[in-house]
Amino acid sequence: MRILLTGTNGQVGGALRPLLAAQATIIAPSSSEFDLSKPEGLTDRLNDFRPDLIVNPAAYTAVDRAEEQRELAFLVNAKAPEVIAQWAAKHRVPLVHFSTDYVFDGSGDASRREDSPTGPISVYGESKLAGDVAIMAAGGPHLIARTSWVYAAKGTNFLRTIARLACERKELRIVADQIGAPTAARAIAGAVADIVLPNLANLNDLFARKGGVVNVVCAGETNWHGFASVIVEGLRRRGVKLQVETVVPIATADFPTKAKRPSNSRLDLSHLRDEFGVVMPDWRDALGPELDGLVAAGDVSMPR
Ligand SMILES: NC(=O)c1ccc[n+]([C@@H]2O[C@H](COP(=O)([O-])OP(=O)(O)OC[C@H]3O[C@@H](n4cnc5c(N)ncnc54)[C@H](OP(=O)(O)O)[C@@H]3O)[C@@H](O)[C@H]2O)c1
Repeated sequence: MRILLTGTNGQVGGALRPLLAAQATIIAPSSSEFDLSKPEGLTDRLNDFRPDLIVNPAAYTAVDRAEEQRELAFLVNAKAPEVIAQWAAKHRVPLVHFSTDYVFDGSGDASRREDSPTGPISVYGESKLAGDVAIMAAGGPHLIARTSWVYAAKGTNFLRTIARLACERKELRIVADQIGAPTAARAIAGAVADIVLPNLANLNDLFARKGGVVNVVCAGETNWHGFASVIVEGLRRRGVKLQVETVVPIATADFPTKAKRPSNSRLDLSHLRDEFGVVMPDWRDALGPELDGLVAAGDVSMPR
């Protein structure tokens, strides 16, 4: 079994690699060897690699920059997945891809199900939705894991930003009116591995019966201020010497960004549980090991 795994420098790809490598040969090209911004070259590379399964967490994830790099975001997030999905459909190779809460407009309070109406409010969200639609249209066996608020002990993410700022500043002002589920990359990787690994021999059949989009986020919900507060508390309990004294809740309107974010990013987990038997950890439980990893790596200042 040969698995083509993209984005192994990233959060989700990095977390998936050791799990998949336990049961398969991993082909993990760098972003220059398998460049999603040059979709015209991908078919030749896929013919060279000849994978039995494609797992594609690589994406253009710079949400604010995407507002000014629409073309690049669409190449990486929409055109490249389309080319990959068409190759996969032609060769009956199953494809696992990743989507985002940003495909929704974030209105109301309800949790979005897999078939809830989409309506992205950012270029990034539009480009990711276009990728999802192209994969479905290609008609091959696929699973699109839709996730949110991803973080890990490594990479560029909210956890690491808050840890750094908490060491530098007395006061943090954090948005409190966007609701969602912080999701550790390792929890996403664990869920995908739980679905894929026991079924490596019959993924086409599994995805034909139960594939399509599936929400994969940690259980529970909070807002960014709540997430930041729990991070700060967790670091303090681990003996990290912090400067921060207060974490102040603010409104999205008080923290303007180039791209709009959905106010409501709740994703319903019943399809994942009922169809695949996967139960996600609560976001607070998934955070603990990542805080441990951050502190162990010496990425935040420790008491002398
Ligand atoms: N991060 C979030 O909060 C979030 C939320 C919801 C959904 N998602 C989705 O979850 C998936 C995984 O996200 P993540 O957080 O793991 O992403 P990430 O940490 O930002 O990593 C992105 C990966 O994509 C690769 N990549 C970027 N441009 C590429 C290109 N032109 N060609 C090939 N590879 C390229 C990067 O390679 P280099 O390092 O070499 O550039 C990196 O390995 C993505 O589909 C993302 O849209 C993420």
